[in-house]
Amino acid sequence: MAKGLHFLKTHFIPAILLLFFSISISIAKPNCTDRCGNVSIPFPFGTTKDCYLHRSFFVNCNDTHYDPPKAFLGNSAINITSISLEGQLQVWQFIAKDCYSLDGSRYYIVPWIEIPRYLTVNNTANKFTVVGCDTRGFVSGNRVDRKYQTGCSSLCTSEDDLDKGSCSGVGCCQTSIPKDVWRFNITLESFNQYKNYDNRMNKWDFNSCSYAFVVEETSFTFSPRNLYGLRNVKKLPMVLDWAIGNETCESAKKNLSSYACLSNNSECRKPDNGHGYRCYCLKGYRGNPYLVDGCEDIDECKDPSLNDCEKDRCVDIEGSFQCVCPKGYQGEGKTDGRGCVRIRGESLTLKFVAGVSVLLLAFCLFYLELSRRKLVKMKQKFFLQNGGLLLQEQLTRRERNRSTLCNRKEYGFQNGLFLSKSGRTWPVKNSQELGISAHSSLIAG
Ligand SMILES: *[C@@H]1O[C@H](CO)[C@@H](O)[C@H](O)[C@H]1NC(C)=O
Ligand SMILES: *[C@@H]1O[C@H](CO)[C@@H](O)[C@H](O)[C@H]1NC(C)=O
Ligand SMILES: *[C@@H]1O[C@H](CO)[C@@H](O)[C@H](O)[C@H]1NC(C)=O
Ligand SMILES: *[C@@H]1O[C@H](CO)[C@@H](O)[C@H](O)[C@H]1NC(C)=O
Ligand SMILES: *[C@@H]1O[C@H](CO)[C@@H](O)[C@H](O)[C@H]1NC(C)=O
Ligand SMILES: *[C@@H]1O[C@H](CO)[C@@H](O)[C@H](O)[C@H]1NC(C)=O
Ligand SMILES: *[C@@H]1O[C@H](CO)[C@@H](O)[C@H](O)[C@H]1NC(C)=O
Ligand SMILES: *[C@@H]1O[C@H](CO)[C@@H](O)[C@H](O)[C@H]1NC(C)=O
Ligand SMILES: *[C@@H]1O[C@H](CO)[C@@H](O)[C@H](O)[C@H]1NC(C)=O
Repeated sequence: MAKGLHFLKTHFIPAILLLFFSISISIAKPNCTDRCGNVSIPFPFGTTKDCYLHRSFFVNCNDTHYDPPKAFLGNSAINITSISLEGQLQVWQFIAKDCYSLDGSRYYIVPWIEIPRYLTVNNTANKFTVVGCDTRGFVSGNRVDRKYQTGCSSLCTSEDDLDKGSCSGVGCCQTSIPKDVWRFNITLESFNQYKNYDNRMNKWDFNSCSYAFVVEETSFTFSPRNLYGLRNVKKLPMVLDWAIGNETCESAKKNLSSYACLSNNSECRKPDNGHGYRCYCLKGYRGNPYLVDGCEDIDECKDPSLNDCEKDRCVDIEGSFQCVCPKGYQGEGKTDGRGCVRIRGESLTLKFVAGVSVLLLAFCLFYLELSRRKLVKMKQKFFLQNGGLLLQEQLTRRERNRSTLCNRKEYGFQNGLFLSKSGRTWPVKNSQELGISAHSSLIAG
């Protein structure tokens, strides 16, 4: 049992995961590798000729000299650490150094980067940063169609001046990079070649160095140790934005044989930075918009954070989801208090009322019949108890007498009723009041 479980853990679950990832998230072209070491490589990027969209999206995956393999931007020495389909690329870029020794010799290295035209330096994620105590640094180069130059100065006289985490001009300064930069050179200058700086600094192996680099802001926090520590650092991370070509969405759509947004459920957008266009999956879809069938429907119902339906009330539909109430319930089925409530509609009330009425009626009828029978029985009982038979006999006898009487007299008064031959009666208050005799001809009509 335990062995079976172990097998499940070591073989089955990874197999499922592998299946899940290889089937549902295919980011590269068929038969193309989608990884280089730790870096995932989505199309339009690729490691071989058939796998990338254009030569400028070539990723050189060097597996002969590195284990795990390392990804490089084209044939450059810039290594890539991540590629996102949202349009960013994290690369490691060389830093510039300018160091002075006490004997007056100088070690100076300044990189310059010319990145392919489809790449631009991300202007929101990066900062041009200068570290040093007798330093000014510049970054200059080309924006899409013009030149630019910017920079800052950093000075300090003693270690005590330096604030950890603060890059505000003392030992460290930062400035923003403008938009649309695709080519830049870094220049480092010293005001006094560290000739008259505080001697105390020499003591902590300060080494009188200046550094300058374009860096991903979140990856670099200034520390006084940087003043000598950076000497042994070659590269720091930087974020580039990538896009397709140099056309706008409108003109790119005109040539469907070159238009890159191949997925049906994708859209074209202009990037904030740089030129060209980018493709995105429509809302409710995910995947790679640059591939045919690349954008797949998201099953929002599987992820509670993607839907606001009450439990088990969610139904996935193409590109979206719906909250559905079961039969006999109404409402929106949402967790924000607008859940499902049992329908108290007319039809149900009517049914209920009708049912109850029928039941009541049946009960009444039954009760009435019961009491009628009881009454009859009681009458009979009392009749017998109170000598009813005798009375009846007497009554019959009296009746007989009266009929003889009536026969004799033809008409007569009985119980205040004027009795006719035919048996019709008229109420009479007092026979005297009438002032007529029993033999009046009144009756004749
Ligand atoms: C992928 O590779 C297999 C076998 O090597 C081949 O049969 C298939 O046609 C290839 N598919 C594509 C799209 O190149
Ligand atoms: C691969 O990525 C993981 C997580 O992002 C990281 O911890 C690991 O160090 C990386 N390995 C290499 C060789 O870069
Ligand atoms: C891999 O990297 C090594 C050292 O940087 C280099 O000499 C070699 O040419 C590279 N291989 C490829 C295929 O780029
Ligand atoms: C990129 O290259 C630099 C310098 O060679 C190295 O320090 C860094 O670790 C590399 N990054 C990756 C992810 O290979
Ligand atoms: C950067 O410097 C190099 C060498 O000095 C020069 O050839 C190149 O034109 C410069 N690039 C820019 C963008 O200024
Ligand atoms: C777009 O790029 C092509 C080739 O790379 C070039 O010939 C053309 O002039 C560019 N168009 C614009 C508007 O930059
Ligand atoms: C459309 O794109 C294809 C492939 O890139 C190209 O050969 C063709 O000349 C383009 N057509 C037009 C009208 O631009
Ligand atoms: C994409 O849309 C076209 C036109 O609407 C249609 O012919 C084609 O079948 C669709 N492809 C997929 C995979 O849905
Ligand atoms: C810069 O990169 C961040 C992610 O690191 C992204 O959110 C932002 O949109 C990018 N800026 C531009 C102008 O593309």
